[in-house]
Amino acid sequence: MDETVLQHSIPAPVPSERTGQVVMDVRTIKKSLPLGREQIDILKGISFQIFSGEFVSIIGPSGSGKSTLLGIIAGLDNPTSGEVLIDGVDIARMTEGRLAEVRNSKIGMVFQAFNLIPTLTAQENVEVPLYVGKHKLSPSARAKELLGLVGLSHRLGHRPTQLSGGEQQRVAIARALATNPAIVIADEPTGNLDAKNGENILNLITDLRTQMGKTFIIATHDQNVAARAERAIHILDGLVESIDTRLERGSE
Ligand SMILES: Nc1ncnc2c1ncn2[C@@H]1O[C@H](COP(=O)(O)OP(=O)(O)OP(=O)(O)O)[C@@H](O)[C@H]1O
Ligand SMILES: [Mg+2]
Repeated sequence: MDETVLQHSIPAPVPSERTGQVVMDVRTIKKSLPLGREQIDILKGISFQIFSGEFVSIIGPSGSGKSTLLGIIAGLDNPTSGEVLIDGVDIARMTEGRLAEVRNSKIGMVFQAFNLIPTLTAQENVEVPLYVGKHKLSPSARAKELLGLVGLSHRLGHRPTQLSGGEQQRVAIARALATNPAIVIADEPTGNLDAKNGENILNLITDLRTQMGKTFIIATHDQNVAARAERAIHILDGLVESIDTRLERGSE
């Protein structure tokens, strides 16, 4: 690993157990969109690194560019310039086919509005990613296992409209984990939930991280989510304002 690059991009000290593998290296991401005759600069040069097994929150006011950034690092959207290296390979320049493969195998995505397929049951929703690409896992066995893990063994046959908001988000998390991705990216996963369900989802994420060693990157307004993360990347007006670690933020 190139230590000079690492030190340059990470201003805050990283606790020793996370100085290991860089799973994602985001380099000078810019995103501009045309707006009438003008151009709007949404992201203005964002850089950071994510280490294996970390829980990182992306924090910033509404409109600061969090969802745009997550879409780009998840490979759902292209940056205007810059690189997103996952395991050392730039996803921003991959062919559509290769990118679909990487998205399917390495990244799980959770959205604020759950985004489940309404006509499918909980179990079928979790199976979907396993029917895309090549996977050794049995879709139905894997879906049942994951729905058990998120506490929904008794809701396998329910469709999204027959589930509460918190239950739908748990199905969405199970779906994000289906292909056993190293990285789970979540955009406001507790944004549509009440405090209690938000707390349950947060406990679930914390447990999954400990049990499965997943890396979680979560954009949020929710101070409770931010307080649980080990590092917080603060975004302001399309730029990284600061990156702080939990150690520096005190005893939350
Ligand atoms: N397709 C688009 N065309 C023009 N402007 C856009 C487009 N998508 C997003 N924007 C603008 O880019 C900025 C960043 O949007 P983004 O959704 O990334 O913010 P956010 O930090 O996720 O906000 P929130 O906390 O409200 O979800 C906003 O000012 C938004 O209006
Ligand atoms: Mg957003």
